[in-house]
Amino acid sequence: MENRWQREIELLLKELTLDEKIAMIHGNGLFCTGGVERLSIPPLYLSDGPMGVRGEFLNDKWIPAENRADEVTYCLSNSAVAATWNRKLAREAGQVLGEEARGRGKDVILAPGVNHKRTPLCGRNFEYFSEDPYLTAQLAVPVIRGIQESDVAACVKHFAMNNQETERLYVNVEAEERTIRELYLPAFEAAVKEGESLSVMGAYNLIRGHHCCQHPELLQKILREELSYDGLIVSDWGGVHDTKEAAESALDVEMSVTDDFDDYCMAQPLKKAVLSGEVKEACVDEKVRHILLLMCRLRMIDIVASKGKDGTETVSVRPGKGRKTGSYNTPEHREKVLRAAEESIVLLKNEEGKLPLKEEKRKKVLVIGDNAVRRQALGGGSAEIKALYEITPLMGLKMELGGNCQIDYVAGYYVPEKEETDHNWQEDSLKGEEGARSEEDAASGKKAALQEKQRLLREEAVSLADSYDEVIFVGGLNHGQDVEGQDRESLMLPYAQEELLMALLDRREDMVIVLLAGSPVDVSSFAGRAKALVLMSYSGMEGGRALARVLLGKVNPSGKLAETWVEKLSDYGFSKEMFPGRELTEEEKKRMNAHLTENYREGIFSGYRYFDRKKKPVAFCFGHGLSYTDFIYEKMTVERKEKQEGKGFVLTVKVTVRNTGRVAGKETVQLYLGEETVSPENPVKELKGFEKLSLQPGENGEAVMYLTEKDFAHYQEKGRGWYIRSGRYLLSAAASLQDIRLQTGIDIPEEMGNYFI
Ligand code: BGC
Repeated sequence: MENRWQREIELLLKELTLDEKIAMIHGNGLFCTGGVERLSIPPLYLSDGPMGVRGEFLNDKWIPAENRADEVTYCLSNSAVAATWNRKLAREAGQVLGEEARGRGKDVILAPGVNHKRTPLCGRNFEYFSEDPYLTAQLAVPVIRGIQESDVAACVKHFAMNNQETERLYVNVEAEERTIRELYLPAFEAAVKEGESLSVMGAYNLIRGHHCCQHPELLQKILREELSYDGLIVSDWGGVHDTKEAAESALDVEMSVTDDFDDYCMAQPLKKAVLSGEVKEACVDEKVRHILLLMCRLRMIDIVASKGKDGTETVSVRPGKGRKTGSYNTPEHREKVLRAAEESIVLLKNEEGKLPLKEEKRKKVLVIGDNAVRRQALGGGSAEIKALYEITPLMGLKMELGGNCQIDYVAGYYVPEKEETDHNWQEDSLKGEEGARSEEDAASGKKAALQEKQRLLREEAVSLADSYDEVIFVGGLNHGQDVEGQDRESLMLPYAQEELLMALLDRREDMVIVLLAGSPVDVSSFAGRAKALVLMSYSGMEGGRALARVLLGKVNPSGKLAETWVEKLSDYGFSKEMFPGRELTEEEKKRMNAHLTENYREGIFSGYRYFDRKKKPVAFCFGHGLSYTDFIYEKMTVERKEKQEGKGFVLTVKVTVRNTGRVAGKETVQLYLGEETVSPENPVKELKGFEKLSLQPGENGEAVMYLTEKDFAHYQEKGRGWYIRSGRYLLSAAASLQDIRLQTGIDIPEEMGNYFI
């Protein structure tokens, strides 16, 4: 990334005292660092998070600061962005977030989260994109670029291997190098190299015995040296545990959740360590350099150097010229969020053309399910948002159907509300009392009463189901399960929804089932019986309207799954040691400052790579998503061009697709690559390209995708590098992982293969 400020930064650094430098490298508020007033260096203002710009807190307390006009555009979660498979919409999602962050006066927006979805149980999956590193990278890069158009830094998080919430601050991760390189680092690599993310957040967990936020190898060797990264590295809130290790690592800024700012590791304890000679001041300087560089890049400051009469150079700091002002809550933002929400909806099943709902059958509609009326914005943990408004599915249906239709609502199931506490969960998160407790847990003592309540609501809904033209169920998960700080225990639908669904299907086999969820749920009992099954994730303030437009056929669904929906959790074959980890011995606990250790024994066979290899049936495969129209894949051509120098090549793959149905629609053409005779250590196939086409009825279009030799390479432990093996490969153009439409062989002859890139 560009650094034309080096000389000025060095001059300014010389002006700073140790106290001033120390002030800059740690939190001086829950969401800001210290500035240096004497030299006009401002603090950095940071804010969560992926679904919009979070509401303001008091500087030193987790108490919402009232009257700050901090309601914002509620954006899509990354799980929803991923389901669009649309780079342009991802860019727009980033633009909205960046513009709003700047509009709210922020310098760094703590997003996007790009962690790999290793298990469907991770509470934060809704904040992440996919179980496929390529798809994650392809969508995270435009999000980052979009954010940074507004002179705001994206902060890609959580680096790295932060794949569970259970014991998130004290879980150690062990995995083979190949696994790390092929699944867990690529999205971060793309984020900093292609996305040029101006900041990165470390993860809470440990990798191979070291906490990520102060990890010597991860931050220095991999991020700084291998990836040539000179952006800002900020800790996760409370992720720093040791002054010396943090100071000597490549971490730049320590943030935490408590208000004892001077006691943070990189505050007074670090000053002492520098004064006693235990830590070199040069370590502090390096961190300040990165902060100043970020400020210059964001046009927060201009550092002006001038020569005095005696030839000595001095510097002064001025507010940066021409920094974008941003804006929030604009109609354009809402429009962009609506368009993205529409494309994020996935039609999982649609038998007998059940959807879109027929016009003549829309006179009397019954909507059932808490998610039809639930406002989701204010949940999830640090991703919570004070939305300017949120259109729920029920409201969306009413808005889109208009006044000639009778729409009634019953809950069908009951969601116990969380007990109010005077504590913010984030404040407690370092004490091990993590996460917003699940709403069901909170009510565990009242189980019998709860069951009775569920029965009554169920019976009410079932008794009504016959007397309507259409019945639409909107259930799934909410932020009681899709939440920071805790993982789910199972894939089962909460709140007795399964019983409700079975009873409803007995009455109304034509019922439309909509699931709102940030992660897969077990649909094995009812998916087979359902005629129409629709999935939406947390899709922002216009989500309900987007859903209604899809159900009514005003929008043709085009979302595709960004992760596998398994039949049952046990299909993953995870032992306790693999997830959520085994308890460490006392000696290990002390040595590592950790509680659990988990081994990613599945290696690279994560998500679809596992199910594809094992030929295990799944409920809905990766990449699956239906449309109201049909697409035929007519032709696939591959053109190969050798590189002028070296052994590399570029393949241009063109796939022609025709819309053979009666309505316009969008199709995501997916490109998978694998060996023709698959070696035991490799996946059968992997996603290497995709392109979304928009086609009118009868129209054909061409998806053009490019592959290079790197796409054929796998990481080899021995050579510690990416190795291309000669042989025959299969390239598949597909509508989903399992719906391969066209295939062609590609040869890498002996003389072209068997080498490290
Ligand atoms: C989360 C981060 C978040 C930070 C600040 C932490 O608990 O892990 O993703 O950005 O808090 O709220």
